[in-house]
Amino acid sequence: FTVKANKPIADIAPTMWGIFFEDINLGADGGIYAELVKNRSFEFNNPLMGWSIKMSDKTDPQVAGMNPPVLVVNRKEHTANPRYIHVTVDNAVKGDFLLSNEGFRGMGIKKDIRYDFSVMYHQATAGVKLHIALSDSAGKELGSTTITPAETGIGWHKATAAFTANATVMRGRMNIWFEGNGAIDLDMVSLFPSDTWKGRPGGMRADMVQKLADLKPGFIRFPGGCIVEGYDLEHRYQWKKTVGPIEERQLIINRWNTEFAHRPAPDYFQTFGLGFFEYFQLAEDIGAAPLPIINCGMACQFNSKEVVPMDDLQPYIQDALDLIEFANGDVASTWGKVRAAMGHPAPFNLTMMGIGNENWGPQYLERLKAFTKAIKEKYPAIKLINSSGFAPDGALFNYLDIELRNMQADFIDEHYYRSPEWFYANVKRYDTFPRNNTKIFAGEYASHVDGTKGDQKNCWLSAISEAAFMTGLERNAAVVNMASYAPLFAHVDGWQWTPDLIWVNNLESYGTPDYYVQQMYTLNKGNKVVPVTLNNEVVAGQDSLYATAAIDTVKREVIIKVVNASAKPQENTIILEGAGKTAAQATVISMQSNDLLAVNSFTSPTNISPKTSVMNVKGKKISVKAAPYSFTIFRIGMQ
Ligand code: AHR
Repeated sequence: FTVKANKPIADIAPTMWGIFFEDINLGADGGIYAELVKNRSFEFNNPLMGWSIKMSDKTDPQVAGMNPPVLVVNRKEHTANPRYIHVTVDNAVKGDFLLSNEGFRGMGIKKDIRYDFSVMYHQATAGVKLHIALSDSAGKELGSTTITPAETGIGWHKATAAFTANATVMRGRMNIWFEGNGAIDLDMVSLFPSDTWKGRPGGMRADMVQKLADLKPGFIRFPGGCIVEGYDLEHRYQWKKTVGPIEERQLIINRWNTEFAHRPAPDYFQTFGLGFFEYFQLAEDIGAAPLPIINCGMACQFNSKEVVPMDDLQPYIQDALDLIEFANGDVASTWGKVRAAMGHPAPFNLTMMGIGNENWGPQYLERLKAFTKAIKEKYPAIKLINSSGFAPDGALFNYLDIELRNMQADFIDEHYYRSPEWFYANVKRYDTFPRNNTKIFAGEYASHVDGTKGDQKNCWLSAISEAAFMTGLERNAAVVNMASYAPLFAHVDGWQWTPDLIWVNNLESYGTPDYYVQQMYTLNKGNKVVPVTLNNEVVAGQDSLYATAAIDTVKREVIIKVVNASAKPQENTIILEGAGKTAAQATVISMQSNDLLAVNSFTSPTNISPKTSVMNVKGKKISVKAAPYSFTIFRIGMQ
C-alpha cells in the first residue's frame, strides 16, 4: 500500500460516524427508558394491559356481591392522559386485593439497588394504604415499602416511596396490595431503578447509554425511522407532545406494534417518557451533535400512504421552526422557555434537521420545498437532511439524487439494508459522486447475512462486510459527511427487526461484532483523508483487500484501516510517503475470526472484539500482515 500522508484529499467531518436511535425492538419503552411499569397511565388500547388483579373471596365482587373494586375512568377533557383507575376497598387487609404489573418483558431487578416508586392519586377521604413489593416469578418478595396517601380533596397529588431489592432477577413484577377502607384514584404508577444514567430520577438505563457513550458518536439521529412517519398521520411522531411534565405527554401506539413483527408486540406503545428534551440531553451527554428527523406531512409510504394536503401543511412546518426555537432559542422565546423550564436554559446547539424519513415522489419534493423555504428563510444556518427513500434496487436513489441535487440539498439521506455481497460490491459507490455542496448521509445501513430480514443475528460476516464498505465511506469523506448503522438496539424478548447493533435483556447488554466495527471507526477517525493505493488504484477489492487512510493532525498520526475479506493471510508493505520521521512503535488494533458466522452473546459478549498490540516500525516501508477475515487499524506516529 502506498500512503501519501502529506497529501490530504478531504476533511473528515466531526459528524462522520454517528448513531441512529429509534423506538423499535423495545429500544425506548422497555429498553433505554428505565421505567419498569408497563402501561403506567392506563392509556394503552386495553386500559388494563400489563396489569392483573387478584382478589380474595372477601373482595371479589362476584362472591361478595359488590361493585367491582377497580374501575377505569375516562376524563375525555384530559386529552393527553384521560384515563385513571378508581379503586374501592372495604375493610381490606394485605392479601385481599392485589394490583400487579408484569413489566415490559418482566422487570429486571438488581440486588442492592434502590427502587423509586411513585404514583399520582386523588381521594375524597384518606383511608387506603398501599403495600408495594417486587416479586420474582414464584412470588417471592424481593423488597417492599408502603404508602399511606394523606392528601384529600380536589386535585391530584404525588406520593413516593423507595426500597432496596434483596435479589437479582431477570423477570420480576411489581405488586400493590391495598389495605383499609374507602376509594382512591390512581394514575402514573411508576417504578424506576436509582442506578440510571448519571443517576437521573426517571432516567435511562445506564448500561445502554454507556454503550452509546463508548462509541463517542459524532451525532445521534432521533427519533427514527418509520416512527417519525407513523402508520398514518394521526400516529406520526409529534415532538411537542413529548416535552413538559411526563403525565401530560400523550402516548400513541408504536408504529412497530404489530407491523413487520416477527415477534408480535401488541403492547408496544410510545409513552414519550423519553421525549425530545431527553434526546437532546442524551446527545449532549455523549458529545454527539443532535439530529432530529421531523415528519414532512406524509405518513409511511409502505402503509397508509396518507399525505397532508399542501393547504394544511403549515402546522407541520411550524413544528419544524418551533423545534429549532426549542433547541436553540433564547429563554425568553416561547419554546426556549419550555426548554429552560425543563432544566436546560443553555441552548442545545442544533445545527441540522431531517425533513421526512424514507419519503419520496413528487409529493415529497413539493412538501420538502415548502419546508426548506420556510426554514432557510428564518434559520439559514440550519442544514437540512433530505430523504431519498428506501430503494433496494437503487433506482429511486438515482432519480431522487438528481432532483435533490437540483434543489441544492444540504444532505441526501440514503438507506441500504443489503447482503454482504452488496456491501463489498458497493465500496466504490461514492467514488464518482459530485463533490459539490450536496453531501451524503448514509443514514441507515446494515449488512443482512440471510437476505433483508429474518430471525438472524449479527455475525462476523455482517461486520466485516460493513468494515469494508466503510473504507469507501471514509475514502469519500469529501462527499459523505455522516453515516449511521441501523437499528441500534434490540431486546431479546421483544424485537421486530434484525440484525441490530446492540442486544439487551432486562439486565444486561452486549455489542455485536458490528458494534465493534463502528467503534473501531469512531475511535480511530482522524481528521483528514489521505490517499492509499495498491498498484496505483484505490484499495477496493483487489485480492479481497479494502483500505483507507487518514491522518490525525493533532495527535500527529497516520491511521490506516485494512480489511482482508479472504480466507488467506496476506502480507503487504505500507510505503509511507510524506510522514517525516515515524515513531519507533505503532499501535495495531485488530478484529479477526476464521468463523464468518461467529457471534457475540450475553455469555460471551466480546467473543468478536478488537485486540490492541504494538508493532515495531523501522523506516518508511512497513511490513504488515493481514490475517484471514480480519479488520486491522495501524496507527503510526509521525513528525
Ligand atoms: O431501521 C429500521 C427501519 O428501516 C427504519 O425505521 C426505517 O427508516 C427503515 O425502513
